[in-house]
Amino acid sequence: MKHLLDISNLTIDEINQIYARASEFEKGIRKSNHINAHVATMFFENSTRTKMSFEMAINKLNANKYDFCAETSSLNKGEDLYDTINNLSAIGVNAIVMRHSDNDLIKELAQKKYYQDVSFVNAGSGTNAHPTQALLDYYTIKKHFLNLDDKIITIVGDIAHSRVAMSNIALLKNFNMKIRCLAPENLIGEKIEGVEYYTNLKDAFENADIIMALRIQKERIQEHIDIDSYIQNYQITKDNLPYAAFLMHPGPINKDIEIASDVLEMQNAKTILNQARNGVFVRMAILDMLLSAQGL
Ligand code: NCD
Repeated sequence: MKHLLDISNLTIDEINQIYARASEFEKGIRKSNHINAHVATMFFENSTRTKMSFEMAINKLNANKYDFCAETSSLNKGEDLYDTINNLSAIGVNAIVMRHSDNDLIKELAQKKYYQDVSFVNAGSGTNAHPTQALLDYYTIKKHFLNLDDKIITIVGDIAHSRVAMSNIALLKNFNMKIRCLAPENLIGEKIEGVEYYTNLKDAFENADIIMALRIQKERIQEHIDIDSYIQNYQITKDNLPYAAFLMHPGPINKDIEIASDVLEMQNAKTILNQARNGVFVRMAILDMLLSAQGL
């Protein structure tokens, strides 16, 4: 593994390897010392959980962490991103964790030649991929259910603009689960083979083992979205949440839009903070594999 760009680049074997390694980090039975590794975070979009858990993962691996700040960098003097990264590479950066609004930019950058080898980790690209989120979601789900055969997951919310949905679908399709997506017609987006699409909450929630809620990504939507109608038809409430359903959300939550606040006080909602916690171990596992592959 040289980069982590997309779920489709991973074999089932690699997914399970990441799971196993993350679990060892969580249990404290694996320790890694990457004192010669230099990892830069480059976030061109907002982030709380992803950025902080990558930073914590880098620190826990005893690697060196550099936070690239786009606003104060020479990108503002007209330098292009390739030259910027090539210079980071010359300075000695071995890996870059990047979030960007462009769907394809990170793949293009990863293909280029640099002063020294650089591993790229996709921390969210446009609307199409967020592989580390899907891997931490898989870790959270598998830790709870052990066997995923025939489990039903309903992903509800703004599927059309969600890189979290795209990467989760790509990953969970490997594991014999039943994947349902629920959204109003204008937030469903392009349909993916093997996924069942619903516009009615009652049908989509029936017998669901896992409910994964998503935020309406207003910053990516041009047209008007009727939030009141969304709340009325799709908000997760104490009344419509299936009993014992495993509730997930990648965060950030817009309380009282996709989920009613009182649901967040229920036992079911504890899993959401566990997703954030598990993100550290999964990101440790990924960076550990990439840095080890570089002999660092
Ligand atoms: C998500 C993202 O950035 O794609 N957040 C995250 O990484 N946990 C989801 C979102 O912004 O709604």
